[in-house]
Amino acid sequence: MKESFPELDFQRKKGNFYYFDSAATTLKPASVIKAVSDYYSQDNANTRRGFYPLALNADKICEGIREKVRKFIGAKYITECIFTHGATEGLNILAQSIAKSFLKADDEVIISQLEHHSSLLPWRETGAKIKILPCSLETGEIRPEDFKKLISSKSKVLVLTPDSNVIGRTKNFEKLVKIAKEHELIIVADCAQAVAHQRLDLDKSGIDFAAFSGHKMYAEMGIGVLYGRQELLEKMQPQLYGGEMVEDVLNINNIQLAELPYRFEAGTINLGGIVSLGAAIDFMKGIDLEPLSKTLKVILANNPYLKLIGEPEGPIVSFQLEDIHPHDVAQILASDGICVRAGYHCAQPLLEEIGPVTRVSLGVHNTEEDIEYLAKKLATIRQRMGYA
Ligand SMILES: Cc1ncc(COP(=O)(O)O)c(C=O)c1O
Repeated sequence: MKESFPELDFQRKKGNFYYFDSAATTLKPASVIKAVSDYYSQDNANTRRGFYPLALNADKICEGIREKVRKFIGAKYITECIFTHGATEGLNILAQSIAKSFLKADDEVIISQLEHHSSLLPWRETGAKIKILPCSLETGEIRPEDFKKLISSKSKVLVLTPDSNVIGRTKNFEKLVKIAKEHELIIVADCAQAVAHQRLDLDKSGIDFAAFSGHKMYAEMGIGVLYGRQELLEKMQPQLYGGEMVEDVLNINNIQLAELPYRFEAGTINLGGIVSLGAAIDFMKGIDLEPLSKTLKVILANNPYLKLIGEPEGPIVSFQLEDIHPHDVAQILASDGICVRAGYHCAQPLLEEIGPVTRVSLGVHNTEEDIEYLAKKLATIRQRMGYA
């Protein structure tokens, strides 16, 4: 698998290079880079604007990949898959649009404590009343009883990620979604992490809206997807206005929106990014990070000074090393050619209580030997910082 990533080869010519920061952004496989290069060398044109063959071909490429995305995320209709520039944009569009279309004054939005700032902060801007759904700081678990207690007749939306960027997979996710459904809440899922290593089956899952970025699943930066159930999207006002999201502008007071999904895709879409997304979906077929994720936890658990945060499941694991600030951990590891992330991870409502952490996240290029090298270097840090 390592040979699929030219950046690994390039960096390793300069020295040690062990990349454990796929949750920030994944390395890009050669097949994705080639697909983008081919697109810009041969097929580049704007979509939904031209009648010449190159432009019509761009439309074909775009819609072909939209169908590929539909299958990949388990959406029912192609009209439910909207291209954005990333998860953050999608989550902002969703918060604004859901608030304007479905919420009244005093209605409540329940947001889990596990959320990334991109999933939390857009709701603050809507003026809706926000209730935080807490998780256990020991296990990371959100207890269904706590959720039920929080729901009132004013509750309208649940914001819950299937996969936290700090502690990995969300325990009880399906149970919480079921409870939300029973109370007729709209369910918004930030799938920025889940998309890289969980099978999303959005139509069957009960999730109403989801958003993710391509760059965390081996595609380019600057491309993302927003998913919404058709019957809800049909009732929603777009947030972004501009070219190709309207059918007619008869006068400034009389416009007719384009059909779904185009009314949510104002302006030129990132077709190069869409091509990279298509190639990334092909690349990801058959990938399973579960065995390596388990190995990571077993090996890290051998370090008596290391505390895993929240009983993590999946390829995202955060920890604290006794006496050592995570920034020091990350800097010392960097000097050994190891890339990890450290700090508050844009998830302060969770980490203010736990404190800053170091995060290791796996990608498909990682191996057991990589993990052993990481563990070996981690075991030297306390001593290098002057502790016994
Ligand atoms: C859980 C989660 N949600 C949302 C985002 C935002 O993604 P982006 O910066 O690609 O918009 C991130 C990025 O790290 C994330 O980890």
